[in-house]
Amino acid sequence: MRTYLVTGGAGFIGSNYIHYMFKKYGDDIRIINVDKLTYAGNLENLKDIEDKPNYTFVKADICDGEAIMRIFEENDIDRVVHFAAESHVDRSIKNPDVFVKTNVLGTLNMLNAAKQAWENEDGSFKADKKFLHVSTDEVYGSLDNLTDYFYETTPYDPHSPYSASKASSDFLVKSYIDTYHFPANITNCSNNYGPYQFPEKLIPLVINNALHGRDLPVYGDGKNIRDWLFVEDHCKGIDLVQEKGVLGETYNIGGHNERQNIQIIHIILDTLQEMLDDSDPRKALVSEKLIKYVTDRKGHDRRYAIAPDKIKAAVGWYPETCFEEGIKKTIKWYFENEDWMANVTSGNYQTYYEDMYKDR
Ligand code: NAD
Ligand code: DAU
Repeated sequence: MRTYLVTGGAGFIGSNYIHYMFKKYGDDIRIINVDKLTYAGNLENLKDIEDKPNYTFVKADICDGEAIMRIFEENDIDRVVHFAAESHVDRSIKNPDVFVKTNVLGTLNMLNAAKQAWENEDGSFKADKKFLHVSTDEVYGSLDNLTDYFYETTPYDPHSPYSASKASSDFLVKSYIDTYHFPANITNCSNNYGPYQFPEKLIPLVINNALHGRDLPVYGDGKNIRDWLFVEDHCKGIDLVQEKGVLGETYNIGGHNERQNIQIIHIILDTLQEMLDDSDPRKALVSEKLIKYVTDRKGHDRRYAIAPDKIKAAVGWYPETCFEEGIKKTIKWYFENEDWMANVTSGNYQTYYEDMYKDR
């Protein structure tokens, strides 16, 4: 039985990945989820699988060398899938330090622990051990020309403290591949959306605010473009790359689904109107009048767009869920999980929201 060490598995993409993997492989795999449970980590995301005998949760910081090494010593880890990170650009602009600590030093610590556990005395690595570093398209910077795309060969040009920290972590992984022939891959994915996404990010924030009749904050002119991918398609890509990709290679993941932020907001409002029952009092609250243009994000990247040619050709990956279907599935999930949203927006969330939006 193959054993996976997943970092950040209580977050948005990590928890979707754990669900995806158990759905795909059932009891043929074992998953150990190591997560520090920051504000973004939520064990509620994994409630339905937490009692599985082939699933273990370990609360630990990826920067804690001893704790991570102990997991490798006590378990014969075959795969590392490294999601754990500080992930929100706006937070990185306010407080960059923790991004460098977790994203850069935490990744270095994960690499060192895996290297120590997997390296033979002669410097080669044990057979069939693989590390996958989950990264972002933001490392490539911003595209101004509508006909340009991010390829794996596009030079890195990060602008925010978040993307700079992810770029640094990618370079560390690349350096371990080049220096030690460390068995790793990197994936650089575009914007994800779907169930379990924390409402600091655009799509769940707009869904939640619209349903409560609150302002929908649009940064700048609302014409910045992101390339949206349903989270399950990202999870599928990660698994395909790890099992069928060439070790040492980087793969971009994205589904050619570019939209302006303001278009996303209109699609969400229209879809909410379509899905809400006429008798539902929230229907009257959902309105374009809620759209509020606010001060732009500092250093706001204009456009991201992935060219997924390499992953398609190499491992046969393609996005299965189109945006219209994915956004309906996402909204349906938020309708059915009102308690989840109520729980994550209680407590510190209000303070966060006021701090981030009050002076915009
Ligand atoms: P998230 O913020 O929802 O989850 C991050 C998880 O990591 C949380 O569970 C958190 O508790 C955990 N974590 C944070 N610091 C930790 C630490 N020091 N030790 C252990 N655990 C820690 O993030 P996400 O959106 O699920 O993103 C996951 C990964 O995917 C990140 O590496 C991110 O850069 C990358 N990524 C995200 C997107 C996206 O659109 N969300 C797109 C491409 C790549
Ligand atoms: O591209 C991949 C990246 O996508 C990931 O690496 C990051 O972890 C993830 O957070 C995401 O980054 P973005 O900054 O693109 O996502 P966010 O949801 O924060 O913002 C999407 C766009 O919407 C961006 O142009 C900023 C804008 N925005 C965002 C918020 C939260 C608004 O206009 N209003 C808002 O309130």
